[in-house]
Amino acid sequence: METLWESRYAQRTQRMGSSAIRELLKLTEKPDIISFGGGMPAPDVFPVEDFAAACDRVLGEFGAQALQYGATDGYLPLREMIARHTGRYGIKITPDNILITSGSQQALDLIGKVFINPGDRILVEEPTYLGALQAWNAYGAEYVTVPMDENGMISEALEETLRAGPKFIYVLPNFQNPTGVTLSVERRQALIEMADRYGVPVIEDDPYGQLRYEGCHLPSVVTLDGQFRETGSAPYRGNVIYLSTFSKILSPGIRLAWVIAPQEVIRKLVQAKQGADLHTATFNQMVAYEVSRGGFLDRHVWMIRRVYQERRDAMLEAMEDFFPEETSWTHPQGGLFLWSTMPKGMNSKKVLEKAIEQKVAFVPGESFYARGGGENTMRLNFSFAKPEIIRLGIERLGKVIKEQLQVKSLH
Ligand SMILES: Cc1ncc(COP(=O)(O)O)c(C=O)c1O
Repeated sequence: METLWESRYAQRTQRMGSSAIRELLKLTEKPDIISFGGGMPAPDVFPVEDFAAACDRVLGEFGAQALQYGATDGYLPLREMIARHTGRYGIKITPDNILITSGSQQALDLIGKVFINPGDRILVEEPTYLGALQAWNAYGAEYVTVPMDENGMISEALEETLRAGPKFIYVLPNFQNPTGVTLSVERRQALIEMADRYGVPVIEDDPYGQLRYEGCHLPSVVTLDGQFRETGSAPYRGNVIYLSTFSKILSPGIRLAWVIAPQEVIRKLVQAKQGADLHTATFNQMVAYEVSRGGFLDRHVWMIRRVYQERRDAMLEAMEDFFPEETSWTHPQGGLFLWSTMPKGMNSKKVLEKAIEQKVAFVPGESFYARGGGENTMRLNFSFAKPEIIRLGIERLGKVIKEQLQVKSLH
């Protein structure tokens, strides 16, 4: 029988349902399972003592101010620090181009709130970040997708899809979640030129850009867009909204991220954020600023890179040793994930069921496809487990995939 509540849920909740995959992944939270499923940073890189000292300093120096309501756009010294830091890469922004959010996930939600009408088409990579789809489904988004290769979104396909008149383009240029693939600099350039030609804004989501383990830093799409417009010393007012976060370089639990955008867009997002949570926690912003300043964050990121590079290498080496030759996988230059593809006809949800029995888990790739597909793919996280555990987990998973390949060939 329908409950009182069921008849009262808004229409938008119909697309919020919890997926079968999420139910499966709940099983992977048990301590004896080696999980490559989550997107979690390694807890051993969290700077716990530095946070303790920063909390003391914030309460000692600022006292009640740290416990008070704050401005919606965020703690000014933190925004100034982000503006300085971003400026190093060749883009002119001021604190007025920055909004502090409660994680990039909130920024995605606010973007949905500000830009998406029901039925609007959003252009996304195929596959793309599941959390963005979750945020935008609630606003009634529809999706058009652009396939990727080892250099990211394919430019010719992008141009074709732009003709469908999408509301905006959502792109993850560095070590994409879920594939680990990086968009080449030529394609970044092509992207901003096409976006400009078709008059379509770009949302650049970049949580992993600083976590590069090999190769050279590539300019962000927002930086290239600023240069393309040659606005000289005026603050940025181009076509791109850029998102990044402290989650992967400091701590995800403090829920702290930032948006860089033209000031008019920031003002709109501020209005949307006021209705959502008034502002991001004052105390967390002050503590994150205290921890980060004086060069700590750069040193800390260096350390994280060393730890994650070792884990990525451990996973790649173990895959060479234990995965069947019918599978292929990406070699990400940074980030937290790699992506493996099994032969057509294999089903990674079935493989996951068997893998859980062998106490290893991953995320089936199809969850990252906005319009279906990817049944034979999987996302593997390499940041969370230690190298020896990664090797053991990949050995188990390799065995399961080999068995499933045999089952398939028998049918
Ligand atoms: C591409 C992407 N965007 C946004 C987020 C959300 O990050 P946050 O912890 O800042 O909310 C994540 C988290 O994994 C992500 O991978």
